[in-house]
Amino acid sequence: MSKVPARAYQKLFPVPVMLIKVPNAASLNEKLVAEIEQVSITTPNGKPDSWACDVYTTLTNNNRLHERPGFHDFDLLMREGFMQFGQAMGYDFTVESLEITQCWVNIYNFGMSQEIHHHPNNIMTGVYYLKAPVNCSEILFHSHFADVLIRPAVYEENELNNPVASLHPEPGDLIFFDSALRHSVPTNDIKGERISLSFNARF
Ligand SMILES: [Fe+2]
Repeated sequence: MSKVPARAYQKLFPVPVMLIKVPNAASLNEKLVAEIEQVSITTPNGKPDSWACDVYTTLTNNNRLHERPGFHDFDLLMREGFMQFGQAMGYDFTVESLEITQCWVNIYNFGMSQEIHHHPNNIMTGVYYLKAPVNCSEILFHSHFADVLIRPAVYEENELNNPVASLHPEPGDLIFFDSALRHSVPTNDIKGERISLSFNARF
């Protein structure tokens, strides 16, 4: 019997998601959580009317958190991350031309989630996890190929056919990706609070 020749699959157009494990995140997170408590007391839920999901967010009504004095260290960390991600992407920009357009908080209690979305009018997006209890919701990334008109039934999901990838966050995880990459948070089905900061940049 003739042997089938070996074959290789080239994976074109990679979708980069950069993950940084922030060292000594516990002390940073303690300070930021205290800041967020103040923010959440004074800021009503700014969830857009068009969202069907339930989540506490300051996306629309308090989205320049990085300008608060208590966010100074985080602001530096976020900018450094954007510089690293942008440089890896080969983007031609400088620290001076980097503009942080928004930075807001998302709090997920039991049963809360966030539907599929992307961050228009931006180039790069980041998320930082202040609280991510064991077994809390992951963040899901959705391939643009998820919208093809016909997706055949599969006998197994593998890296060539799976239109969704997940990342299980831990406190202190800082991730960066293209603002056009669609993502979502499935229902948080644990009792603990999951708190993340989201932020956008362009230049
Ligand atoms: Fe988002």
